[in-house]
Amino acid sequence: MGSERAEFAPATAHGLRAERKNDHLRLAHGQATAREAGAARSDFDELQFIHHALGGIDSADVELSVEVAGARWPCPLFINGMTGGTDAARGVNRALAAAARETGVPMGCGSVSIALDDPRTAPSFTVIREENPEGIVFANLGADRPAADAVRAVELVGADALQIHLNAVQEIAMTEGSRELGGWRDSLQALIAASPVPVIVKEVGFGLSRRTIDELGALGVHTVDVSGRGGTDFLAIENERRGDDGFAMLAGFGQSTAECLLEAAGREDVTVLASGGIRNPLDAVKCLALGARGVGIAGAFLRVALDGGGPALIDRIEAWQGQLRALLALLGAPDPAALEERDLLVRGRLLEYCGLRGIDASALARRRPPAASLGTQEPGSESGEKT
Ligand code: FNR
Repeated sequence: MGSERAEFAPATAHGLRAERKNDHLRLAHGQATAREAGAARSDFDELQFIHHALGGIDSADVELSVEVAGARWPCPLFINGMTGGTDAARGVNRALAAAARETGVPMGCGSVSIALDDPRTAPSFTVIREENPEGIVFANLGADRPAADAVRAVELVGADALQIHLNAVQEIAMTEGSRELGGWRDSLQALIAASPVPVIVKEVGFGLSRRTIDELGALGVHTVDVSGRGGTDFLAIENERRGDDGFAMLAGFGQSTAECLLEAAGREDVTVLASGGIRNPLDAVKCLALGARGVGIAGAFLRVALDGGGPALIDRIEAWQGQLRALLALLGAPDPAALEERDLLVRGRLLEYCGLRGIDASALARRRPPAASLGTQEPGSESGEKT
């Protein structure tokens, strides 16, 4: 953010809630920096495309745009909801919004409830529209908020869609978190009914199970973001904020993004977005191949924005867009949906997960290969060996 680089000064005026927002930025930045420096395993590493050396197409023939929640996105990437509520958050949102404007990618913000409860913090959210008047922007609320907040949140941000987050694990790990999770279905339903724009229900890094997505579909939700384990870790963040080992016992709780997508694959009723631990465009392509329509990035882009400001994030997103196009050309996919026909091997712990959850991983390894149109036979393909 150049001259607006966040200093993470302790919050004074807005108390504990604002301090938490600054803690989240600082600790998530630290986690993302450590993830980039280290070689931590990711479930995405257990997904492997079968390479077909003659299967490529011209990158000029790749169309990256996708339709999500009633809007046409120029490419499947989006900046996921993160922050707002403090001066530091305002600087971050300004940098993220500038990058979103220059690259055309949609962006979310952090939960706006802090501004609905304390209007003095509103500029940390309204800065997004100041920077990016024409772009696709999401407002963000917790599922426990009153129905009227849906309209207030969307108006405050000038939002095109409303993200509603389900963050039960984080609430439990937070000293000041809610212990009243039982009313979420009802309050969520009321928020959905009241929202003047399409709703995207998301997790915050612990994943949406098949059962949860079924329930959300029944509640009338058309778009979900699985936001699985593997990236920003709010259990670790909240444990660090507590200063004790409080809920460290839950480390590893929840489903990874790849696990969630394998569970959600093939649904017609709900559009699935992927987020949680996306490190690079290849991870994003794997998400698309598992049926995600769009791919959200939070921690990795926050790291770039905090260290290099808006211009560095513009460079990063433009590089990712170019690499995404190149990867689709390599895989012979004229558009993101075509990736769902590419052969994908599931290995290791991820394969074990498939076995336990009744997911047919071998079908993914033998989808419709590009060579099929040439009349060649692939193992297990329709014209090939029977399994
Ligand atoms: C978040 N995330 C988040 N999500 C949400 O719905 N409302 C929120 O207020 C926040 N706040 C927030 C703050 C910070 C600093 C970060 C990094 C993230 C969660 C985010 O949208 C995403 O679901 C997870 O971070 C997983 O994605 P990554 O970070 O692994 O790419």
